[in-house]
Amino acid sequence: MAFPPSFIDEVVARNPIEDVVGQYVTLKRSGGNMFGLCPFHGEKTASFSVAPEKGIYYCFGCHKGGGAINFMMEIEGLSYPDAVRNLAQRAGMQVPEDDQYQSRYRAQERLWALMKEAGRFFHEQLYGPNGGECLAYVQKRGLSKSIVTRFGIGFAPDSWNALVDAMKKKGYTDQELRDADLVGEKNGRIYDRFRNRLMFPIIDVRGNVIGFGGRVLDDSKPKYLNTSETLIFNKRRNLFGLNLAKKTKFPYMILVEGNIDVVTLHQYGFDNAVASLGTSLTDEHAALLSRYTEQVVLTYDSDEAGQRAAQRAIPMLEKVGIRVKVLQMKDAKDPDEFLHKFGPDKFKMLLEDSANRVEYQLNAIRSKYDLSLDDQRIRFIHEAAELICTLGSAVQREVYGHRVADAGKISFESMMLEVNKAFKRRLAREKKKQERIDLAPVQALQPKARSIRYDNVKSAMAEEQILVQALREPALLDRCGSLSGSSFSVGLFGRIFDQLTTRHSRGMDISLGVLEDLSEEEMSHVAGLCHRLQSPVNETAFMDCVRTVQQQSGRNNKSSDDDLLALQNKLKESKGTYQ
Ligand code: GTP
Ligand code: MN
Repeated sequence: MAFPPSFIDEVVARNPIEDVVGQYVTLKRSGGNMFGLCPFHGEKTASFSVAPEKGIYYCFGCHKGGGAINFMMEIEGLSYPDAVRNLAQRAGMQVPEDDQYQSRYRAQERLWALMKEAGRFFHEQLYGPNGGECLAYVQKRGLSKSIVTRFGIGFAPDSWNALVDAMKKKGYTDQELRDADLVGEKNGRIYDRFRNRLMFPIIDVRGNVIGFGGRVLDDSKPKYLNTSETLIFNKRRNLFGLNLAKKTKFPYMILVEGNIDVVTLHQYGFDNAVASLGTSLTDEHAALLSRYTEQVVLTYDSDEAGQRAAQRAIPMLEKVGIRVKVLQMKDAKDPDEFLHKFGPDKFKMLLEDSANRVEYQLNAIRSKYDLSLDDQRIRFIHEAAELICTLGSAVQREVYGHRVADAGKISFESMMLEVNKAFKRRLAREKKKQERIDLAPVQALQPKARSIRYDNVKSAMAEEQILVQALREPALLDRCGSLSGSSFSVGLFGRIFDQLTTRHSRGMDISLGVLEDLSEEEMSHVAGLCHRLQSPVNETAFMDCVRTVQQQSGRNNKSSDDDLLALQNKLKESKGTYQ
């Protein structure tokens, strides 16, 4: 078992949610709840709410939610036990030692230490007797000694066991080397995974080495070998260079594609450059960036793939409140090449000239058409109108409307008519999309959280109600008869139900904040339900739900489409309780 439940209870009780959140967010009271700007997704209007009585927070914008422990995990990037420790400390409590979480935390600490040792090893190898070729490559790429030191760049020697031997000497086990993804394995024997590669340590914002990217020294393939997911590394949530860039004085970040681009930019004084780790930008990356900056200059490669990636990144960054500009390079494929060819002053000019994203997108549209031909000019105007009609501000629509009207040689009035038509088309498209969703009940009722699936929607709807009502009125748990978590169709709900009944039978407190063993996504999902399903406690309805779950689990098969349609109609009738 983890921390003793009584200990968790006390930690939660002694850390009122409004105080914990209040350390990070300015909250204003409105009725029973409190509201503020969500610290997780960067926003201008307050959609982040705290319910002191329930001990939970929930954001209507990004759907994150949970109790005080979850909040600390999210905002400080802590593991569960660390968050508990942090809150315990805050309340002046002693932490009981030695338990399962403790061992997970210890495993993480061992991996951080191992990765740091490995990073040190690679770095030393660069200047060792076998490092000559790699060092020459580093020089050929124009990297200075001080930038190599600042990034901790190193060399993985051309050997099957150099790293393995060195790390074993330091007391690390085969299993730990596997857990860190530093080795491959054949016939039960492990060997160095990175061989004859230039090594870039990936360092998180807290300064831990969490992974490596290893580049070949020639043109062979694959060009890069990267750490895959481990207990301490997730490429979707980390950015290369952010450990340094977070301290920049520039009021914006430069987002590039390559590791080498980041390093070269830093070398030339642009200490605000970061790159996603060989993957396209994710929502997690965007949220992470929004913690450190309000503006991003996208500086992707000038080839078609790079430009497509830029178009994709724009809405993701804007969604978290980041202003986006796009830098376009001529006569160089990427910032690394540009800097070596033309120098930092020219790059600075490019930065200053970089277009805001609307200009960039308009230019991209314009470059597709030959405006001297009437039919192409018309298509240009149509496509530009589609873009302009998505702009939220009337001033923007006017400014860019004028620009397109001039380029397309039509009057501003005709252009605005075009924009209005585009707007109506867009509304119609969205309405159709919504209708399709409405007609697909199974899809529509699926949770947004990817790891949670409702296979039996009818049962799942009843299970949602049981949990939400029981959390509000624990006495209802006395009315559940023989119902147990194993009858639930959604594993997550079954687990929660069992925790609730166990606690209730022992006379312990029940609230969302004391639930254990839930992932962030699971906790957010349940917190979201508690906010969404606000129907008053009703024993008859509750008993109906209990019966439904029992019946469905007896049938033990998926409900038919007819059932689903009937259920969907019922949900529509009781409108307001769902969606
Ligand atoms: P140079 O081509 O030497 O300038 O290196 P670069 O670091 O700028 O890399 P590039 O622009 O080719 O690619 C961008 C990023 O994508 C790299 O930094 C890597 O993170 C990633 N990447 C490139 N090639 C591979 C590959 O073969 N496998 C994987 N997993 N990632 C790659
Ligand atoms: Mn490059």
